[in-house]
Amino acid sequence: MTTGDPDYRDTGLEFPADFLFGSATAAYQVEGAVREDGRGQSIWDTFSHTPGRIQGGDTGDVADDHYHRVNHDLDLMARMGLEAYRFSIAWPRIQPTGAGKVNDAGMGFYSRLVDGLLARGIRPIATLYHWDLPQELEDAGGWTNRDTAYRFAEYASIMGDALGDRVAAWTTLNEPWCSAFLGYAAGVHAPGRTDDVAALTAVHHLNLAHGLAISELRRAASKPDAELSVTLNFQVLRGSDSTSTEAIRRIDALANRAFTGPMLHGAYPQDLLEDTAGITDWSFVRGGDLEQIHQPLDFLGVNYYSANTVRMRASRAGASPTDAHSPWPGSRAVEFVDEPGERTSMGWTINPDGLEDLLVALAAEFPTLPLLITENGASFDDVEIDGRIHDSRRIDYLQRHFTAAHRARARGANVRGYLVWSFLDNFEWSFGFSKRFGLVHIDFESQERTVKDSGLWFGELIATRQLPRVAER
Ligand code: FCB
Repeated sequence: MTTGDPDYRDTGLEFPADFLFGSATAAYQVEGAVREDGRGQSIWDTFSHTPGRIQGGDTGDVADDHYHRVNHDLDLMARMGLEAYRFSIAWPRIQPTGAGKVNDAGMGFYSRLVDGLLARGIRPIATLYHWDLPQELEDAGGWTNRDTAYRFAEYASIMGDALGDRVAAWTTLNEPWCSAFLGYAAGVHAPGRTDDVAALTAVHHLNLAHGLAISELRRAASKPDAELSVTLNFQVLRGSDSTSTEAIRRIDALANRAFTGPMLHGAYPQDLLEDTAGITDWSFVRGGDLEQIHQPLDFLGVNYYSANTVRMRASRAGASPTDAHSPWPGSRAVEFVDEPGERTSMGWTINPDGLEDLLVALAAEFPTLPLLITENGASFDDVEIDGRIHDSRRIDYLQRHFTAAHRARARGANVRGYLVWSFLDNFEWSFGFSKRFGLVHIDFESQERTVKDSGLWFGELIATRQLPRVAER
């Protein structure tokens, strides 16, 4: 057993019996079957079919064909020993145009999925919105239209009524920062807009949608111990020079506090309003909105992959032309510094210390709110030898991040569990199928599933509750 390893390569650490081990996916990334059983079109269908948007021209039309192979995938989850599975519901399967009558066939799929999980002793954790907005709602303005928040509340209430007796935990939105800033400012995610006013307006309407949905779920979710939450992707920021304090404050405001502010403290941070004053006066925030957004939650979903180092650019003129559409409206004078060191195939640096720091900081800021790691994992180009997928770098990444979570717990953070992203290799948004995050390898031609060495490693961790011995690197 090694503990206290400076690189977070501890072994033999034990996790308690109530620590939840699971894995996660999202609807558009795995389901396929985009035109079946009455499913409507989403903004990701439109975006992925727009030439030039997705690497290799990939789309989610088939993806992992999970819609048809769900029983096989459930069996794989059970064989790995997963205790929880986080999936997302495609809104356009439930309400094909984002409003009105329920599409029973679409609902049936999720109902069977939930029953299949429960039959195998796996806790269903449902995300209501993992980015696939019904296209009709986008045509009416998408998240820049306040009405979208009310449509989302209606959809949340439908889901609560239909599955509230069986779903263990709900998360309203996945990573609203991505929806608002990658979707409406940088334009690299659907709907692909580059309009700073739209992005900041979307921030508020996403926050409002979250608050309204929590109220609806509280009313509808009939399972008395069902837990309600949101999943945020926190920026963990490091400094490199004397300008970094200002850079960190700015990015923290746009990435983190724009959401935790209203959702968990009941107010937008003053400095965020000031940093963006040249773009908007935030008059889209109406009386009563902040009270509606500020709802008690049962846990906070934390997504973490990497940390970033930031500083202020020496001069605004130093901004590269591509920065015009960066996802940081009002703070484009912040520079993201390239740090040396190991990276995943996404180009993301590997910083397990960032996860420990984040969990400890969140626990200090929200002492009564339990934390659940709703996504952590890594994309690497997997190596297949003798029919097995030897992904030792992914094992190493996971080992180090589980160590980070363990250390945060030892420092008092109430980290309740850890869901690995992802259960299956899948459609990685603008990167298409070029990036593989799965514990299970997918051959996208044959749809054959092969559990990777990391999946076997995770199974051993779940069975023993001890971090397995590290594979030879
Ligand atoms: C997160 C997303 C998830 C996946 C991972 C790699 O931002 O929530 O769908 O793409 O990144």
